[in-house]
Amino acid sequence: MNVYLDYAATTPPDKESVEEMLPFLGETFGNPDSLHSYGRKAAYAVTCARDLVAQTLGVRASEVYFTSGGTEADNWAIRGIAANSPYRGIVVSAIEHHAALAAAELARKAGANVSVVKADGAGIVTAQAAEEALGMPAGLVAVMAVNNETGCIQPLREISALCRERGAVLFSDCVQAAGSLDLKEICSLCGAISLSGHKIYAPKGVGALIVKKGVPLAPLVAGGEQERGMRGGTLNVAGIVAFAGALARAQRYREENCRKIGALRDAFEERVLSALPDVRRDGENRVPGISHLTFPAKGGESMLARLDLMGVAASNGAACSAQSAKPSHVLLAMGRTEDEARKGVRFSFGKNTTEDEALYAAETVITCYRTIKGEEG
Ligand SMILES: Cc1ncc(COP(=O)(O)O)c(C=O)c1O
Repeated sequence: MNVYLDYAATTPPDKESVEEMLPFLGETFGNPDSLHSYGRKAAYAVTCARDLVAQTLGVRASEVYFTSGGTEADNWAIRGIAANSPYRGIVVSAIEHHAALAAAELARKAGANVSVVKADGAGIVTAQAAEEALGMPAGLVAVMAVNNETGCIQPLREISALCRERGAVLFSDCVQAAGSLDLKEICSLCGAISLSGHKIYAPKGVGALIVKKGVPLAPLVAGGEQERGMRGGTLNVAGIVAFAGALARAQRYREENCRKIGALRDAFEERVLSALPDVRRDGENRVPGISHLTFPAKGGESMLARLDLMGVAASNGAACSAQSAKPSHVLLAMGRTEDEARKGVRFSFGKNTTEDEALYAAETVITCYRTIKGEEG
C-alpha cells in the first residue's frame, strides 16, 4: 500500500482546480494586459478570481496581490512593509517558515532592528513573549497562524491586540491555516497575511499576499504595471483562477474536512502512541491535519527512509529543508536539544486520506520504529 502523509508539504491539485485551469492553458491563453478580446477574457478571469479571494477573506479586491506562492509573499510582506514603516524594527517568531526568517535576516542586513521571539515548550508563541520583544519600537510583527512542522495554532487574537496597542502591523503567514482556520477572522486581526495555492489543492507556483489599506508596502518587482505597479510580471492566469477557487473551497468545506481529517489523525496517533510509549507527540493546540512525533531512539531521517521503503511518505518538517539533516529550528525554538530536534517526523493528513491508509501508516510506523530500536539494541 502507498500512503501519502505529506499534505503539509504539498497537496495534489483537486479535480476542480485542474478543470478551472484548463481553459487558460488552452483557448483562453491571452495576456491579461493585452487590450484585444483575447487579453480582455484573461483579464476578466483575473478580476473574478481577485473578487472571489477578497470575498472569501472579507477584504477589498484592491488588498489582494497575487504572487508565486508563500515564499514570495512572506518575503514581500516582511521586507516590503518594514522598508516603508516609520519604525525600523521587526519582531519575528523563531518558529516562522525559513522564508520569513530569511527575509527578516535580509531586512536586518539592510539596517532594521530584528528581534526574534521564541515559542514555549508546547510550540506556542505567547503574547507575553511577543510583548517582551516589543520593548523596541517595531513597525512589523510576524507570527504565523499555524506552524508548518507542529501544526500549532498561534494566539493571533492576543498578539493582534498587542500590536494595535503598540502601533505595529501584524503580518501572519497563513499558508498552513487556509484549510483549517477561519481566514475572515484572521484577516480582521492582521494588517497582512500570506497564502499559497499548493497547500490547498491548487497548483504550485501561485499564492497571494493580502495587505490592508493603509499598511505601507514597498513594491516588489519593477518593470510592469501588474498588481497596481507593485509586482511587475505577466500574471499566472491559470494558477490564479485555480487558487481563488481552491481558497473558496478550503474555507467553505473547512469544518467538514477538519472533522474527517482530525478523526484520522487522532486514530493514527492513538495507535502509534499506545504501542510505542517512548514516542512523544509534539505541540499543543494543533490543527487537525498535522501530527509531529519525536522518535527518541534514532534520527528522523532513518525513520523516514524506512517508512518510504514501506510505502509511507512523511516528512521531517519543512519541505524546503527535507534534504538536510539539520535539527529543526522549530523544535529548537521550543527548547528541545539539538539531538531531540533531529528526531522528529511530521505526518500530515489531507482530504484524500482514508481510514485504511491512516491505520496502515500507524502499523508501519510501529514496525519501522521497533526494527530501528532492535537494530540499535
Ligand atoms: C508556513 C509556510 N510558509 C511558507 C511556505 C512557502 O510556500 P511556497 O511553497 O508556496 O513558497 C510554506 C511551504 O512549505 C509553509 O509551510
